[in-house]
Amino acid sequence: MIHKNLIFAGTFCLLAFGTLNAQKKAYLDKSKPTEERIDLLMKQMTIEEKVGQMNQYNGFWEVTGPAPKGGNAEVKYEHLRKGWVGSMLNVRGVKEVRAVQKIAVEETRLGIPLIIGFDVIHGYKTLSPIPLAESASWDMEAIKKSAQIAADEASAVGINWTFAPMIDIYRDARWGRVMEGAGEDPYLGSKIAIARVKGFQGETKADLLKVNTIAACAKHFAAYGFAEAGRDYNTVDISNSTLYNTVLPPFKAATDAGIRTFMNSFNILNGVPATGSSFLQRDILKGNWKFDGFVVTDWGSIREMIVHGYAKDGAEASERAVNAGSDMDMESSLYVAELVKLVQEGKVKETLIDDAVRRILRVKFELGLFDDPYKYCDEKREKAIVGSKANNDGVLDMAKKSIVLLKNDKNLLPLKKSGQKIALIGALANDKNSPLGSWRIAADDNTAVSVLEGMQQYKGNQLTFEKGADLTIGKTSFTNEVVLNTTDKSGFEAAKKVAANADVVVMVLGEVGFQTGEGRSRSNLDLPGLQQELLEEIYKVNPNIVLVLNNGRPLALPWAAKNIPTIVEAWHLGTQAGNAVAQVLYGDYNPSGKLPMSFPRNVGQCPIYYNNYSTGRPGNSDTNVFWSHYTDVEKTPQFPFGFGLSYTTFDYKNLKINKTAFAKGEPVTVSVEVTNSGNYDGKEVVQLYIHDEFGSLARPVKELKGFELIELKKGETKTVSFTLTDKELGFYNNDGNYLVEPGTFKIMVGGSSDKGLESGFELK
Ligand code: BGC
Repeated sequence: MIHKNLIFAGTFCLLAFGTLNAQKKAYLDKSKPTEERIDLLMKQMTIEEKVGQMNQYNGFWEVTGPAPKGGNAEVKYEHLRKGWVGSMLNVRGVKEVRAVQKIAVEETRLGIPLIIGFDVIHGYKTLSPIPLAESASWDMEAIKKSAQIAADEASAVGINWTFAPMIDIYRDARWGRVMEGAGEDPYLGSKIAIARVKGFQGETKADLLKVNTIAACAKHFAAYGFAEAGRDYNTVDISNSTLYNTVLPPFKAATDAGIRTFMNSFNILNGVPATGSSFLQRDILKGNWKFDGFVVTDWGSIREMIVHGYAKDGAEASERAVNAGSDMDMESSLYVAELVKLVQEGKVKETLIDDAVRRILRVKFELGLFDDPYKYCDEKREKAIVGSKANNDGVLDMAKKSIVLLKNDKNLLPLKKSGQKIALIGALANDKNSPLGSWRIAADDNTAVSVLEGMQQYKGNQLTFEKGADLTIGKTSFTNEVVLNTTDKSGFEAAKKVAANADVVVMVLGEVGFQTGEGRSRSNLDLPGLQQELLEEIYKVNPNIVLVLNNGRPLALPWAAKNIPTIVEAWHLGTQAGNAVAQVLYGDYNPSGKLPMSFPRNVGQCPIYYNNYSTGRPGNSDTNVFWSHYTDVEKTPQFPFGFGLSYTTFDYKNLKINKTAFAKGEPVTVSVEVTNSGNYDGKEVVQLYIHDEFGSLARPVKELKGFELIELKKGETKTVSFTLTDKELGFYNNDGNYLVEPGTFKIMVGGSSDKGLESGFELK
């Protein structure tokens, strides 16, 4: 009897244990709705484990090697094994990601998988042009495709979250991070933000479950692009109008497009560091916009609140950050150190911790990480995808579309394919590193096709290369300041000799790849080093110069703009840069890019942008000095926003608006005829600008509110139509309320922001 009872009790225990275990793992049941799965999991989490989800560490040791011994790394490793780490960044490669994921999934009490973040800014190993360059394409499909390629490669090496797109709007070319965004305009910036989000994440939330999509991150929230004087990390001091009408719209567009994460920013806004800003993160983002993903801080930005003078110590900084809605701590190590105690002391409500954790877990569930934590860890896929032919073809296509023809006065371009002596001059022409641009942590050095290699594909001409002068001393890298060699001119003579002998001189000048990007602000926008001098020397012996610019920001080149007949803006175009440049120079691709950012005449004009306000004294009618201008330079930019030429020409005529007056809410239809009047087939970006002539608040002189990229065979005409609704005709007042006011509107349609056909209508 005893024996029987024992068996019964044992069986009961096993069954009960089994049921308990099944209950514990019920959150793994895919058939349950995500929110229920989160509830089931969170019920089992200790406060330490919850806070752990809010902690993100940088890849801190040779992950596939032995566990670290001593110091910080050992502590972090221990945290990982205890389930006190929710995410890691900069761990990459299937082997490495699998190793850390294994610890999270198999060694921690609850086995919650990590989300693996990385700065996939313009590709992983196969690089697209820098984002500013891509934006010059105004081609939303191409930009989306480029983000898809980046997601494809990143997901194949274990990464499932990119810290991109950067959707900061900015107006100052001195800021090094202009290379990372979409330029100066919030309308174009919003469209590009949407294209990039969809490229990374897919069209719908369900696409996140696919193996080749990754979660995107809208950064830097907010106003980081307005760092004073373009100096990175500097103070931001902007009006409400700029905040609501310029800075926030692309972030709102990304939210509406379903972006899953946000990153806050290093700057202060009205004295409050963004990381501690409840106004930005709780009121606007999570409140008004109903964003239900999570916010990661920028690198160490919780700790930086102490340096800002906004928190006295780590505990206060953590309290302020979490209360303000910063959900995940990137590399401050403060949440993991402080939050549990802050909850126990009643300084932080546990409900706020729960909210943050729920958001983080939600994205992990949506990515399918609970269903298969190793879903991005497939060696075969890694091998097949990274650097594939298809990806190289894709980035080449994007690179060609990003090139902007700024000047072609003597029609030196396209180059003839035979019988020509071509001198190729400039260290950047033979540089396989600089075209990769900044922010390319995973790409191998010297893996871009150089302009020299690209041009060598065309064998009909006699091509001679001379560098003229070196650009840098030693190796440049992500973390080091770029050092320019400014003295050795010994190569000038050889360069002058080949130039004197050539039919056409192609000079590749500009910035080295790491001269832009984070921490790379400049107080000059000239050609660094000896390049300007070299350009002028070569010009003396042969003025038939095609200047190809390689740069990550607008440069101010007044001498070149005046004297050099042909200028091609070729940015830092990524892995296939040289092929793209050569195909454009030889006319196998007709350039159609348009500038996403104004190019100043000199650095003193910065910040300069097209959608400025009128001022009370915009223009001069006589010789009087008292109007808004400079006494030593024109007030217009050298090359305006939206500007870019083609090998063909486009004529605009018959601008029509379907009525002269409209009721509020009624759509306004604008149409225009565009004809390809030149000798090549080509593409044109037709742009529509509005000007709200007067209102309860002054409005900018021009605002882009529509564009279309069209393709026209030579001689062909197309009618392009735009519809303007309340969405385009209104603006935010200083309280953030959207207004559509009656009044008169001017419209302008053309191929650049500085000129076009004009008309107008009234809104009753
Ligand atoms: C940058 C972010 C970046 C982060 C992680 C920070 O310094 O501001 O844009 O995502 O580092 O690398």
